[in-house]
Amino acid sequence: MTRTRRALVTGITGQDGSYLAELLLAEGYEVFGMMRRASTESVERIEHLLDRITLVQADLLDQFSLVAALEESQPSEVYNLGAQSFVPTSFRQPVLTAEFTAVGVTRLLEAIRTVDPSIRFYQASSSEMFGRVRETPQTERTPFHPRSPYGVAKAYGHYITVNYRESYDLFAVSGILFNHESPRRGLEFVTRKISDGVARLKLGLTDELSLGNLDAKRDWGFAGDYVRAMWLMLQADEPEDYVVGTGEAHSVRNFVEAAFGHAGLDPEQHVRLDPAFLRPAEVDHLIADATLARTCLGWEPSTSFPELVSMMVDADLERLEHAAHRSERAPVATVRRAGEHSPAFEAEARG
Ligand code: NAP
Ligand code: GDD
Repeated sequence: MTRTRRALVTGITGQDGSYLAELLLAEGYEVFGMMRRASTESVERIEHLLDRITLVQADLLDQFSLVAALEESQPSEVYNLGAQSFVPTSFRQPVLTAEFTAVGVTRLLEAIRTVDPSIRFYQASSSEMFGRVRETPQTERTPFHPRSPYGVAKAYGHYITVNYRESYDLFAVSGILFNHESPRRGLEFVTRKISDGVARLKLGLTDELSLGNLDAKRDWGFAGDYVRAMWLMLQADEPEDYVVGTGEAHSVRNFVEAAFGHAGLDPEQHVRLDPAFLRPAEVDHLIADATLARTCLGWEPSTSFPELVSMMVDADLERLEHAAHRSERAPVATVRRAGEHSPAFEAEARG
């Protein structure tokens, strides 16, 4: 009799965690999701899965809690998706970002080495590590030049994963994933900020959308496609790092035009440029060469750029219309925290 495979996912409450949990359940896994303690639970994205997964309380900041989470769940695969993942916050909280996003990886690898070194480990590396790119498009061999404390922390997480693979013979791999989005994307990331903003404009809930650098280019794909690449990496015969992206880049301006166009709106009339959303150092142009993932894993993206944009705008329209019908106030997209994006913050962050 074959034993049900068990997987532990850190960051289960995040965008990718929710899609990965769905995929693992569909593949027949018993899924454990690691959640940190909070005074209010943030299970919105996994609410529909709660009766099929087991939540384990632990924190990437706490070594013993990670050991306990592994002992409790006894997984054969661990997916480390937990991180402080928003680039502007990493300029505001660089030390905390390093604790979660960089050293947290070492804590988890140490816990695996202690509890069960046969566990297969996936690390959520990022195209943000390429930063000021050394070549275009970027492959697994392109050198890193991160441009934010987040990118630096991810580079550490990437190299420590490689190091534990080489030093201790762990099946530990990194997926260097380019930007991937969905209707479940956090509201502060630019694609969701735009889709939510367009839906609000369309429904007459606001009359402008403030954005920063419209010239930045990203290789945007659909998150649902990308979690499959994570899973495929842990099913491979040999541990290997892979770049995952569509191979197509679009500017933020392109995204704005596509989203406004889909809703029949004119961006000229509503988009306001606000320097508060510029970053101390920017990543100008990311584009993936995912040849290795295509040829060795058989991975392909299934969702085109126009399909992604339409999916996100339609989902936000539906959500806000539904909320309006229930006479509820929907969460506001652009939350300005005290001091954030103020001239003082900008000056401080620029040094
Ligand atoms: P996300 O929506 O921001 O989710 C991040 C998750 O990490 C949340 O579940 C969060 O939990 C959890 N977390 C934060 N700090 C933690 C801690 N100290 N202990 C335990 N959990 C903690 O991010 P995502 O878009 O799903 O991305 C998943 C991973 O892929 C992240 O590591 C991100 O950096 C990386 N990545 C993302 C992309 C992308 O385009 N989406 C591209 C490349 C790499 P709470 O709910 O408690 O906050
Ligand atoms: N967030 C945001 N808000 N970004 C804006 C805005 C705005 O109002 N206006 C322009 N942008 C530009 C940013 O300057 C950046 O160049 C681009 O839009 C994308 O920003 P984000 O959506 O915040 O994503 P990111 O590329 O910085 O980081 C995401 O992708 C990484 C992979 O490359 C995150 O998901 C990271 O966690 C991930 O690793």
